[in-house]
Amino acid sequence: MMTVDLRSDTVTKPTPGMLEAMWSAKVGDDVYGEDETVNELEAKAAAMFGMEAGLFCPSGTMTNQIAIKCFTQPLDELIADQTAHVYRYEGGGIAFNSAVSTRLLNGERGILTAEMIEPEINARGNIHYPNTSLVVLENTVNKGGGKCYTLEQIAPIAELCQRHSLKLHLDGARVFNALVRTGDKTVDYGKYFDGISVCLSKGLGTPVGSVLLADKETITYARRIRKVLGGGWRQAGFLAAAGIYALDHHVERLNIDHQHAQIMADELSKCSWVTDIVPVETNLVLFDTEGPADAIVAKLAEKGIKAGCTDAKRIRFVTHLDVRPEQVEYVVGVLKSL
Ligand SMILES: Cc1ncc(COP(=O)(O)O)c(C=O)c1O
Repeated sequence: MMTVDLRSDTVTKPTPGMLEAMWSAKVGDDVYGEDETVNELEAKAAAMFGMEAGLFCPSGTMTNQIAIKCFTQPLDELIADQTAHVYRYEGGGIAFNSAVSTRLLNGERGILTAEMIEPEINARGNIHYPNTSLVVLENTVNKGGGKCYTLEQIAPIAELCQRHSLKLHLDGARVFNALVRTGDKTVDYGKYFDGISVCLSKGLGTPVGSVLLADKETITYARRIRKVLGGGWRQAGFLAAAGIYALDHHVERLNIDHQHAQIMADELSKCSWVTDIVPVETNLVLFDTEGPADAIVAKLAEKGIKAGCTDAKRIRFVTHLDVRPEQVEYVVGVLKSL
């Protein structure tokens, strides 16, 4: 029986080319700043996004949490959509690491606008209010089924943040999926954001890693925070080499994952037991089931297809580097037979 893992784009294994790049990486002690492959990855990612500097970290959670620490003071407040990963899935880290409160908004599939944000910015100088200091956007929106912001939508939010002296951070765990879909230029992102977190271990297929991008001063402080969190690593160049390889070889191909997601959504739209499908934009397919979602997930598992429930009646399929065309065909066949 064929097996297909659609639970997440984090389940990929390194390709032979990536393993070769890792194997031959030149490494050194990164805490001393001496790992040339880490330095190369940080510089490369920063240049790609039009930012000054980068910091390679073990996870997207760490790059997001360090960014929040850098851009806030205790007793501040940040604004994010109610579905935001930084709020829902980072273990309460905003409060724990930064002593900051969170103002949650109801975006359209997680997409915020300047009009939604502006009335939620607290007036300065009133001791009753936490000091609003940061806005966090997510692109693509995970809980929003991979929905994308375009730079045209981001520009007015960045302008608002500047006007109110707020920092703007991007949780770009899947920012390359958004870039491939929208056709926006990577280098233009730096004009709008103070911080960008870019995951290498999701759509790009590395075993581990995320890069935080910002200006030099912020990254100097971020490096200190990473150390405090125990994230000062040594010969991390073996992992950075996978990141460089992924940036060179795994970005354009994300289109294939998007096509695969659309093929699955098209088949789901013909299934009588599916009541709704969130329109597909990138590599995430969210759909609602008539009966309990876990019963469908169990049936899929019997056929070798792994998927996850995100709600009592909602299932998520995620396409990625390790889902090949023949596996997509197999999934379509199984959906027809259910
Ligand atoms: C939108 C988003 N941000 C951040 C993260 C955190 O990444 P990590 O699992 O590397 O901590 C994830 C993980 O799935 C995510 O989906």
